[in-house]
Amino acid sequence: MLEIFKCDNCGKIVTISHEGAGQLVCCGRPMVQQAENSVDASNEKHVPVVEKQGDGILVKVGSVPHPMEAAHYIAWIEVMSGPNLYVKGLKPGEKPEAYFPVPTTDVKVREYCNLHGLWTNKPPHK
Ligand SMILES: [Fe+2]
Repeated sequence: MLEIFKCDNCGKIVTISHEGAGQLVCCGRPMVQQAENSVDASNEKHVPVVEKQGDGILVKVGSVPHPMEAAHYIAWIEVMSGPNLYVKGLKPGEKPEAYFPVPTTDVKVREYCNLHGLWTNKPPHK
């Protein structure tokens, strides 16, 4: 659940809310499932960092703030906490961080960089 697919032609992005057997198609081609990256190879930091803040958590991207420029920015940050999904959309010029009203830091967090794709603090088990 919550897999993310992208159209390599037009850039449309879709999140799966409920599994089904059918194939997602956009612009006449299969959409491509986005892998959840969790290891930064470069100096630029994408892996989300979760900190307790008041009654909730502050999620930062990443350990060094990611750029938030028109051509390169974090498009959204999301938190999966039990059955709930919280999503905060971001725009260039804003800080690459978001507060979520969840009581624990033990949550799966993902963020999407418009150039470098999907990142998580808890990669899927291989
Ligand atoms: Fe990036």
